[in-house]
Amino acid sequence: MRQTFLPYCKPVLTDEEIAAVVRSLQNSWLTTGPVVKELEQAFAETSGVKHAIALNSCTAALHVGLHAMGVGPGDEVVMPSLTFVAGAQCTLELGATPVFADVDPQTLSLTVETIDAVVTSRTKVIVPMPYGGRPLDIQAIVRYARERGIKVLEDAAHAAGMLDRGEWAGLHGDAAAYSFYATKNLTSAEGGMLLTNDDMLAERARVVGLHGMDRDAWKRYTASGSWRYDVREPGFKYNLADPLAALALAQLKRLDNMQLRRDAIASRYATRLRELPGIDLQREVSNPGDKHSWCMFVLLVDEQRAGIGRDALIDALRDANIGTSVHYIPTHLFSGYRSLGMNALPATEAVWRRLISLPLYPAMSDDDVDDVLDALERIVAPKTFAFAQRGA
Ligand SMILES: Cc1ncc(COP(=O)(O)O)c(C=O)c1O
Repeated sequence: MRQTFLPYCKPVLTDEEIAAVVRSLQNSWLTTGPVVKELEQAFAETSGVKHAIALNSCTAALHVGLHAMGVGPGDEVVMPSLTFVAGAQCTLELGATPVFADVDPQTLSLTVETIDAVVTSRTKVIVPMPYGGRPLDIQAIVRYARERGIKVLEDAAHAAGMLDRGEWAGLHGDAAAYSFYATKNLTSAEGGMLLTNDDMLAERARVVGLHGMDRDAWKRYTASGSWRYDVREPGFKYNLADPLAALALAQLKRLDNMQLRRDAIASRYATRLRELPGIDLQREVSNPGDKHSWCMFVLLVDEQRAGIGRDALIDALRDANIGTSVHYIPTHLFSGYRSLGMNALPATEAVWRRLISLPLYPAMSDDDVDDVLDALERIVAPKTFAFAQRGA
């Protein structure tokens, strides 16, 4: 058995990334300034999306995105319940109603069919979330939404490194909100990015993300700046600081390399896990040009076939020094969200009780991955394995 604990997540920064942060700290500009601008340009160029607006979290990007789309009281925003609570929280903060749609039990994301089951004349925005970084065919969802005058804001928290038919999240919908949280494929410790091709939406999101002011500090305090500014409307304090942008910029340069390691770990996991009874995996990508970002690698445990339930398996893995997580406790089951009118979500209810996220990050060695696999093979249906080994 493994002697030391393998954490679910462990961000490891390179010397170059740390040096980039230090350089930014030394250049006497601590808040939103030239490095944020550089990050925004690099993100727009790399993604092919016209506008990139750096913010201090994905939650902030979802909030200003929904706000800039005009979401308010009386509106409904469709999203999965099987996701992080941020989208529902921002919808409620704007006085609108989150409406939960069910997921496909194999991809774990919304589909046109599950969306169509809950759309009403009040639906203003759909917020699909490519679960774990598995592309969800955004083009089909956008086509459906456009025909009905509904906007699409992708919750792209897991999508750095993902390609949907060869394209970044944000190219097809009205906007996409990325997360740079510590567990994500590209981190700035805390941070986020709103991508959009829509000029008006970009302008409004930029202003609303900084108190509704028409000039940020860089435009006011530099030699060419002016002290004057207007506040066009009430907004939020969501700007990203330069030292954090320096980290994100350095990580963006390393994204392809980090992705190769994620791909290798995912394929090492999948090869052996496919043979394990009672363990199902998220459906593989199928469209040409699709690429999973492997922000998360999830198992679906079938208690009967595996001989052990999800919760007991998590405990047994912990005893074997393997950290795991669960993504997600569905939002509609939280005490603070139970009062929302709720649609039937049979797949969400069935699937979340089976989910376990395994550790997957570039700093993991092949031995770490094998430790997880060895532990799973020992715990899950051990008799089958002992039998197979005896027979071999
Ligand atoms: C699917 C999803 N959406 C939104 C968020 C919120 O991201 P942030 O922490 O950057 O606000 C997360 C973060 O974990 C997430 O996983």
